[in-house]
Amino acid sequence: MTSPSVTADPARSYLMCPPEHFTVEYAINPWMDPGQPVDTELALKQWDGLRETLVGLGHQIHLLSPRPGLPDMVYTANGAFSVDGTAFGARFTHPQRAPEAAAHRDFYQQQLGWRYVRPTETNEGDGDFAYLPAAYGGTILAGYGFRTDPDAHRQLQETLSRPVVSLRLVDPLFYHLDTALAALDDENIAYHPAAFSPASQRVLRQLFPHALLASRADALAFGLNLVSDGQHVVLNSEATTMADKLAAAGYQPVLVELTELHKGGGSVKCCVAELRG
Ligand code: ARG
Repeated sequence: MTSPSVTADPARSYLMCPPEHFTVEYAINPWMDPGQPVDTELALKQWDGLRETLVGLGHQIHLLSPRPGLPDMVYTANGAFSVDGTAFGARFTHPQRAPEAAAHRDFYQQQLGWRYVRPTETNEGDGDFAYLPAAYGGTILAGYGFRTDPDAHRQLQETLSRPVVSLRLVDPLFYHLDTALAALDDENIAYHPAAFSPASQRVLRQLFPHALLASRADALAFGLNLVSDGQHVVLNSEATTMADKLAAAGYQPVLVELTELHKGGGSVKCCVAELRG
């Protein structure tokens, strides 16, 4: 295992949205069960713990205003993918989430004044795209198979002029790339191999020989749905084995509890979109 590359200034900017209207009223991934009660107050409290943790690590949090009728809006990772002040907009797979894209577009255009690129193909933002600024000069890893159309990968490459590596996800429990793979720093990743097709596993092995490998249990504990600034890795408190692996690899795990939000099929990373200015 190589030691993590430490960024000189690890401060990051993130977009989050308080789960004021969070419920599980439809099922669009295997984690969601509309029959299971959700404690929205607890979701808000746990979400705030995540926000405070990130602020405590020196990061800047921007907030998106929650809108009634959009219970999944808390999972801001899906609203866009940004690099160098350009936001590549989302186009959601499921109609229940479709209106979220416009809220993100308004945020990037009006509040940040960034260039916003309208997607022509279905894609779910940071949820299916991971960015490694120092890997091969800047590489985007892109998932497909459940939510994002591979045609969006091509549009993304043309938009951002960075190589996009398409990876096929094969396990419905790991329906977004960010449930199966995470950028740990500017050049290295952690991932759960079996979440990918054999060919995509081979690609990952070739590109990232020093990757940290996560077991199925780690991935099921949302241990890969993490937010890393290259030093601190914020992850779900139940992912203790993953936390140990991260510590052994030289990172500093920081645990947060997000049990209510797991009922929607997401954890730490799903609640955070990185704003790469
Ligand atoms: N209920 C949401 C959905 O199925 C969860 C999204 C989780 N987000 C993520 N980036 N994995 O769309």
